[in-house]
Amino acid sequence: MIKTAEINELVASDIKQVEEKMREVVGEHNETLTLAIDHLVNAGGKRLRPIITLLSTRFNKADHQKAIALAAAVEMLHTATLVHDDLIDNALFRRGHPTLNANWTPNATVLTGDYMFARSSGFAAETDDVRIIKIFSNTLMTIVNGELHQFFNNGHSAPPSQEEYFQRIYAKTASLFAAGAETGAILAALPETQVRALHDYGYYLGMAFQIMDDILDFQGDEARLGKPVANDLRQGIATLPVLLFLEDSPDHPLVLKAVAKQYPTDAEIEQVVAEIRASGGIQESLDKARRLARQAQEALTPLPDNKYRRALLDIADYSAARDI
Ligand code: IPE
Ligand code: IPE
Ligand code: MG
Ligand code: MG
Repeated sequence: MIKTAEINELVASDIKQVEEKMREVVGEHNETLTLAIDHLVNAGGKRLRPIITLLSTRFNKADHQKAIALAAAVEMLHTATLVHDDLIDNALFRRGHPTLNANWTPNATVLTGDYMFARSSGFAAETDDVRIIKIFSNTLMTIVNGELHQFFNNGHSAPPSQEEYFQRIYAKTASLFAAGAETGAILAALPETQVRALHDYGYYLGMAFQIMDDILDFQGDEARLGKPVANDLRQGIATLPVLLFLEDSPDHPLVLKAVAKQYPTDAEIEQVVAEIRASGGIQESLDKARRLARQAQEALTPLPDNKYRRALLDIADYSAARDI
């Protein structure tokens, strides 16, 4: 879990309850599912999405059990997308532990992810709120659609436009942050202007968060992050630092080869990664992430000035400055 003194004090005990809920076993249950879910929940993670959802519910009196179920739904959905994402990205460790696909067949990995998606919908349904359930199902459709766009690169072998890139990171990441913040606000029956404000906060924050993730893929420390770095280009995925690099060097043969998925060698990938690390594309991407984090903070203007709002402002600062 991410740690600032204030966030810790506000939500740490709720996050423990969210984790317990995620581990709960229901009905007849294949033993491998229990092991897999325990493994994933115990491995940790920053818990950023459920923290934001819980903070959103606090602006008014929301039913406590429903707030826990909603936050569990958000984190379970996130975890399920990671299970599928690591299979697609051929990533062998996550949160410092082996991924399911490192030890299991693709079939077993996909089915476990599917089970977790279903579990997430069940948690969302515990809110008894059809509007929340609809937002969840729409968000899951958006995420899967975004991953497919990225996977097929819209049928092109050329890099995506920046517009396509921003659309994809909205789909795969910001949509869930927006949904988590918005549904928290709905559960707390906040006025519509505040529901909208929290949705927009989640949107801008999620965009900043994914740009930072894409920067960390070039600059991050693998041991600290607990997941592979320099992996996006290896998978042929051109992120913002790459697109900005290409503005100055549009014909760079190795970058184009990587993006066209024409099997660049390890040495070629290492060379391109080093060139991009040393380019202005990283700093420009950082500037963009910081601007988006500021927009997230501005989106909170309609909310009352209290400790929950201050915690959300801090999370926005963290998201654009993080190294983990
Ligand atoms: C990883 O999310 C996937 C992205 C959307 C970038 P996090 O960085 O929040 O992963 P955990 O939950 O802390 O492991
Ligand atoms: C986020 O993208 C994936 C999802 C939201 C499913 P990445 O592929 O960049 O996430 P990491 O870097 O593996 O955590
Ligand atoms: Mg990945
Ligand atoms: Mg990444």
